Amino acid sequence: MTAQIIDGKAFAASLGERIAGHAAAFAARTGRAPGLAVVLVGTDPASQVYVRSKGRMARQLGMESFEHVLSEDCTQQELMSLIGDLNADDTVDGILVQLPLPGHLDSLAVIKAIDPDKDVDGLHPVNAGYLASGMPGLVSCTPLGCLMLLRSSLGNLSGLDAVVVGRSILVGKPMAQLLLAENCTVTMAHSRTRDLPAKLAQADIVVAAVGAAEMIQGDWIKPGATVIDVGTSRVTRDGKARLVGDVHFETAARRARAITPVPGGVGPMTIMTLMHNTLIAAYRRVGLPAPDLK
Ligand code: GUN
Repeated sequence: MTAQIIDGKAFAASLGERIAGHAAAFAARTGRAPGLAVVLVGTDPASQVYVRSKGRMARQLGMESFEHVLSEDCTQQELMSLIGDLNADDTVDGILVQLPLPGHLDSLAVIKAIDPDKDVDGLHPVNAGYLASGMPGLVSCTPLGCLMLLRSSLGNLSGLDAVVVGRSILVGKPMAQLLLAENCTVTMAHSRTRDLPAKLAQADIVVAAVGAAEMIQGDWIKPGATVIDVGTSRVTRDGKARLVGDVHFETAARRARAITPVPGGVGPMTIMTLMHNTLIAAYRRVGLPAPDLK
């Protein structure tokens, strides 16, 4: 068997077209474009690239982008004060603080300070609570992108056995909640899980989000499973730098029915679901029904 490749780049491009249409409709109706504020603290080159590409994508889809860069040694108070200003600014619908923050800053306090209605990262405990309670809120971008890809590949997920590998607040935990809401039977595996291959042998759906290069072997995958690989690790092979996922792609693709590549799978979806969340937040904040793009 050779797996179907789930093309996240193509899916994200078509989602982007629909988002742009709704962003234009929002602007025509309200007289302003949906606005996304991205906050970067420090000069980490990878974070700078992410922040720049988020701003570029927002503008490309007809949204307003506000970029705020604070110095590496900024104080907690300065950052909290900026969050307060963005919360109060009516032209800002979404706020994203790029993580990780420098070690002297309290990330959880920052996340908690963001207005939950503008928390396009879905990290505020209010949004995590809405997700766990099955109420509408804002859902963390990466798991939302994974769910969209799973639905596009499988259709109805009801009754399927899903294993989520990794339990972070950014991916693993919200992913498990989303799959549960789709009526999957969900197992969460993590670094203390005993006999991961035995768990994966039962899985119709695998979502791998541990950040360990190719740690999931192809022969652990149940034949016919659908595999979503969130991991991106930089490795050097045969003297060349490469990006690889948490799953050993070549061997897994021989057993799976469908699999996301790295790069070109989940990655392009994450930025597009951020745009999606900004659009949804904008509609809700002005009291208009939000479009359903899922
Ligand atoms: N850094 C890496 N991924 C993310 C993300 O999804 N959200 C934020 N805020 N920071 C990140």
